[in-house]
Amino acid sequence: MFTKTITALAVVLAGVAVPAEAQEAPLALTPPMGFNNWNATGCAIDEQTIRDTADLFVSQGLKAAGYQYVNVDDCWAAQDRDTNGRLTANPTRFPSGIKALADYVHARGLKLGIYTSAGTQTCAKTMPGGLDHEDVDAQTFADWGVDYLKYDNCNNQGRPALERYTKMRDALRKTGRPIVLSICEWGENKPWEWGAGVGQLWRTTGDINDTWSKTVEILKKNAPLASFAGPGHWNDPDMLEVGNGGMTHTEYASHFSLWAMMAAPLLIGADLRKISPTNLDILRNREVIALDQDRLGVQAQVQSMVDGRWVFVKTLANGDKAVALFNETAVAAPISTSVSSLGLPRRPGYVVRDLWQHKDFSAAGEIAAVVPAHGTVVYRVSAGDWWRPQPLVSSGLSFAGSVPGIPAKITPAGTPFEVSVSATNHGVLPVINPRFDLRAPAGWDVSPLGQASRFVLRTGESASARWRVTPVGSGTPVLDSSVTFVGGSASSQTDLIVPGSPPHGSSALGDVPSALESGGYGPIERDMSNGGPKGGDGKPLSINGVHYAKGMGGHAPTEIIYYVGEQCSHVSMFVGIDDERDEKQAGAATFQIWADGVQKADSGLRTWQDDPVELSADLTGARFLRLVETDGGNTNSYDRGDWAMPVLTCS
Ligand code: GLA
Repeated sequence: MFTKTITALAVVLAGVAVPAEAQEAPLALTPPMGFNNWNATGCAIDEQTIRDTADLFVSQGLKAAGYQYVNVDDCWAAQDRDTNGRLTANPTRFPSGIKALADYVHARGLKLGIYTSAGTQTCAKTMPGGLDHEDVDAQTFADWGVDYLKYDNCNNQGRPALERYTKMRDALRKTGRPIVLSICEWGENKPWEWGAGVGQLWRTTGDINDTWSKTVEILKKNAPLASFAGPGHWNDPDMLEVGNGGMTHTEYASHFSLWAMMAAPLLIGADLRKISPTNLDILRNREVIALDQDRLGVQAQVQSMVDGRWVFVKTLANGDKAVALFNETAVAAPISTSVSSLGLPRRPGYVVRDLWQHKDFSAAGEIAAVVPAHGTVVYRVSAGDWWRPQPLVSSGLSFAGSVPGIPAKITPAGTPFEVSVSATNHGVLPVINPRFDLRAPAGWDVSPLGQASRFVLRTGESASARWRVTPVGSGTPVLDSSVTFVGGSASSQTDLIVPGSPPHGSSALGDVPSALESGGYGPIERDMSNGGPKGGDGKPLSINGVHYAKGMGGHAPTEIIYYVGEQCSHVSMFVGIDDERDEKQAGAATFQIWADGVQKADSGLRTWQDDPVELSADLTGARFLRLVETDGGNTNSYDRGDWAMPVLTCS
């Protein structure tokens, strides 16, 4: 009887085709973690970079922190297939070939990823794509020992995405090697609706770049897709930019925190041979990584978003809740939520662990922080021994700007401003004897205007203190505040910009240091157009065939702020869309000059076909000059604008 059953089972197994899915070990049960060179190097990739990265994964503790895939992006392949129709590696960039590279990476306990496009050529062109070569390419990758394939969307001949990506899925399956399939069609065909079962992750947006505006734009597209993510099928808001140099430490920590909350793939996009220790520490924050890698695989939901103040909540496998308080705005802001809204069991108190401070706090019911501009506070909230840690106290510095449109953090030397520091007790037990302190750079005048006299702060109660601060010198100093109480303390910091004095006489404005500037696609360039997100990659300034030796090139939305301190009388320049137009004949934007809060000149809509137009303004009595390029109301694609031959006249 027993033997018969076994035999019958064997017959069933031998005779019935077991669905392909059932044969496979599931892949990417948590979001893939690793590296991809594209954001750091673009096409300038070679095998040594990949080998060095694998070594650094081990020596810098990244492997131990969970980073596993070392991925090569576009431009690794030779231009032509070999006589058997197989892809081969570019002999200059990868002289040892991909198999040897995979062996090198595997020997370090890591995995190798590779790239091609579901089209006739890859996105960088000239390299062959996988369309109609799925079987041979998948087999080649498997033979080489590749573990991960990023499959892009360029040159797709208008063929349906589902068909193209499914063909590659099937080809990979046929090889028998487990290879993660990363669908990279930029969210164009709603891959979140069909990607599960085809690949393990799908890009939800166009390419990221190393700017705050692009990071936030992508966040906003990816966040609403939370319900589509889960173990083995992830939304991919693109690779990390942490460490590439275009954002502040606060912004990179936000980027990393929010990607982890969204259960995004964590693919390091910086050159690990050059990354700063502080940026490396962001990438190695194991408590934040643990949120990303939580085995429940839930993407954080947006609980609320009011005026750029966001609350993200992510449920974790052990029942804890991760809460990210994200401040999109340019000034510090209090952000809060309540434990009752998180769905934790009702208790007298909770343990709130700050995953960047690596410290526990005790909370009664409100989860709050004063979040710095562009910052994210990440808490892990649990029903632990709430009576042990110090009370959760949110504390922050605030000060108001005096000129409309100019961020308060620009504080010229010699001009006093008022700073207020507040503290609110969110703990269960009272905060006793809070004392405030404010520290400014040496030589600054800091005069107290009033200290909080309250001796006890009960749950929910606040106190504050005020100072008058007068900066000296110039630079980007930091103001530190703290509140100390019996058994604990809380502190906060804020960055300031103290601009230098305005120039004398007549100056080429591009050579005058600005107080603050930002562009929509990489930095504002000097004496060249904006070529891309990296900086220094533009061409000589040129508007409809008219070339200019000097000026600024930016990509909308652009803002450049100068401190002119009532010393300047006039500014003038030529504006228009730069001739750097790619193959697309596109681009339209408006250019404006503002003096303090007043708009002084507006170019009207300028398109790529328009001649340069002169823009000038009287600056008499103004403290700040602000140059603005808007996207002209039709998205900012190709909006590369020039401020050509700008001249600032001062006393
Ligand atoms: C596309 C992808 C990028 C990168 C490049 C390579 O733009 O979206 O992530 O792979 O191609 O050419």
